[in-house]
Amino acid sequence: MGNLDNRVVIVTGGAGGIGIVASELMAARGAHVVIAELDGTRAEAAAADFHGKGLKATAVQTDVADRASVEAMVARVKRDLGRIDGLVNNAAMFSRVPMSRVDSLSISEAEWDKMMQINVKGVWNVCSTVVPIMREQQSGKIVNISSGTALKGSASRIHYVTSKGAVISYTKSLAMEVGGDNITVNCIAPGSTLSEENPTESILAAREQAVKGRCLKRVQLPADLAGPIAFFIGPDSDFITGQTLVVDGGSCLH
Ligand SMILES: NC(=O)c1ccc[n+]([C@@H]2O[C@H](COP(=O)([O-])OP(=O)(O)OC[C@H]3O[C@@H](n4cnc5c(N)ncnc54)[C@H](O)[C@@H]3O)[C@@H](O)[C@H]2O)c1
Repeated sequence: MGNLDNRVVIVTGGAGGIGIVASELMAARGAHVVIAELDGTRAEAAAADFHGKGLKATAVQTDVADRASVEAMVARVKRDLGRIDGLVNNAAMFSRVPMSRVDSLSISEAEWDKMMQINVKGVWNVCSTVVPIMREQQSGKIVNISSGTALKGSASRIHYVTSKGAVISYTKSLAMEVGGDNITVNCIAPGSTLSEENPTESILAAREQAVKGRCLKRVQLPADLAGPIAFFIGPDSDFITGQTLVVDGGSCLH
């Protein structure tokens, strides 16, 4: 048993990469994790794997970019599990839902809009549906996943970097709005993380390249993010809100 006993925690995009590793750690600490994921088949597989390990999990196919889908997921969680203690806004257009890694003039309008729809509006869709329930409970913990690129800048994929900058601003403002309801809102900015299950040579090279620019000389893994996410969902962070924690082995010394 751990410090997340009986807490209901929604993890968007929780069926793979960083999301599944963070979900498993929180479930191992006693949480009932709701894997709210675009790919329903992968979500079901992840939940079945957790059940096999004696952990509590529910898979709910969800598109964070679609308000009706989010409302249906949240209503189901409230109906079946009775409360929502934690929310990790991890889903993004990144790797599974791929983006073009190109300069700003080469990004299509359609891809720019899709990026904002998932990475920015998606966070608002989920938060604004969950907050009324947390407000009623007078407690809740929200963690938004940004990126170190939002703090450092990047010479490619400006739509992604811009979306992740918005996540930091959103975190600060929502923390101010909901602090009076005993709800904390924090952000994690990961460095370049080897989260792909079957990485290509170029992905491996990019993750290796990132090692050169950080204090700690090794490749970053999803497990490096899981503890910090669980910290912001658990009771040890109860007096921390509106913050962005950079977890990148000391690349962006924020
Ligand atoms: N891996 C890195 O180097 C890195 C670095 C900085 C930040 N991040 C951030 O960390 C988070 C997790 O990234 P990851 O590396 O595990 O990538 P990933 O692409 O493997 O994970 C994202 C998950 O979100 C899901 N998803 C995508 N669109 C969705 C939607 N509309 N509704 C619901 N689910 C959706 C995907 O299916 C996938 O399971 C993302 O927010 C990403 O931007 C990753």
